[in-house]
Order: sequence, then C-alpha cells, then structure tokens
Amino acid sequence: MPRQMPAQKPGRSVQEVRTPPEFLAAVKSMLHVADFDCDLAATDDNTVADLYYTEAENALVQAWPREGGWNWLNPPFGDLAPWVAKAWREAGRGVQTAMLVPAGVGANWWRDWVHLKARVLLLNGRLTFVGHPTPYPKDLCLLLYGPPTAFRATFPDYTVWVWRANAWGPSAAPSAVVAHPARGPRRAAGRRRGPRG
Ligand SMILES: C[S@@+](CC[C@H](N)C(=O)[O-])C[C@H]1O[C@@H](n2cnc3c(N)ncnc32)[C@H](O)[C@@H]1O
Repeated sequence: MPRQMPAQKPGRSVQEVRTPPEFLAAVKSMLHVADFDCDLAATDDNTVADLYYTEAENALVQAWPREGGWNWLNPPFGDLAPWVAKAWREAGRGVQTAMLVPAGVGANWWRDWVHLKARVLLLNGRLTFVGHPTPYPKDLCLLLYGPPTAFRATFPDYTVWVWRANAWGPSAAPSAVVAHPARGPRRAAGRRRGPRG
C-alpha cells in the first residue's frame, strides 16, 4: 500500500529535486484532474500527492493504484528502464501514469518501453526544477501510459506540447502542416553546370 501523507507534514529540512508546481498544474489541467491519485516516486517531503511510494517501499515492486485518475511519476533519471517497463506492465492492468523523463529517443529503454507503448508529449519550454537555479539543460517529455481507452485516441503517438500555454505544436494537427510547393534543389550562385550538374 502507498503511504498516506500525514495531516501535519514534517519540516522541510532538505531541498530535494522536485517538479516545478507550475508544470504539475499544467499536467493536471491537460489531463482534467484536480489531483494525482498517487506519487510513485517520492519522499515525505517532496510528494505531490496525498498517496505516495518512497524508496523504502520501492514502487518498482508494488502494485500501482488504479483509481480511475492519473498517477504521477518523476523517477530518478539514473536508470529509467525499470520505471518505463513497470509503467507499461501496469498499463496492462488499467493503471494510468503520467511520467516525466528525458527525451532519450536513442536509448534502449525508449526503443523497448516507450516507442508505440506510451503517448509521448515532447515538452516545448524548459523546466527549472525546484531548488535549481537554472533550467534543466536537456529536452524532456511527458509519457502517458494507460489502457487502450479514450485518452489513447485523444493523443497521437508523438506530439509537441507547449506546456506553459497548454497548447499543441503542429505535429498534433497534421492537417495544419503547410505543404511547401515543389521547387527542386537550389543552385549556388555563380556555379556553372559541371559533370554532376
Ligand atoms: C525526482 S524525485 C521526485 C520528487 C517529487 N515526488 C516530484 O515528483 O517532483 C524522485 C524521488 O524518487 C524517490 N525514489 C527513488 N527510488 C524509488 C523507488 N524505488 N520507489 C519509490 N521512490 C523512489 C527518491 O527518493 C526521490 O525522492
């Protein structure tokens, strides 16, 4: 069972890396939820939901809540394969999880557990984690895992999410992509047609 946040939270002595609240608010708004059902990777101090798992319980060996809403997961970025594999397995039980990860499109964990398994929202707009003075320097994305229900029809496999505006990049609307008139290749000025030209 996940932990239940105590009525009185203990003092926040240590600043931990935490997801910026404005990003969490944007995710909830986009998913149409007031709160997340469970924070799957947390401490007493940094949980963003009333229910949460810590390293002591080890969310990787627990059943993730299936309350009909969305679980939140910002996992340790060091070893992502077990987290995305677990999210995919849990999705098979009907569990919905929104997960923040680097956009590691060349990694094996992406090939095996993200590509065509999660809906991928590539984040337009860098995130500054709580306690960090500067934005995280790499591209990030939000992965949505869940059963093949309504949300999977709503989201394309890959899209760009302008999260600060809760708006979509052109990839979400293929019909809006402007077709460029066919012109053929350019020729550098002053170049004379040679054997290859
Ligand atoms: C990036 S922080 C996320 C902080 C915060 N919950 C959030 O979403 O912004 C990752 C958290 O996962 C916790 N954690 C690490 N391994 C875990 C595990 N196996 N199960 C549950 N939590 C774990 C760490 O202690 C850390 O607090």
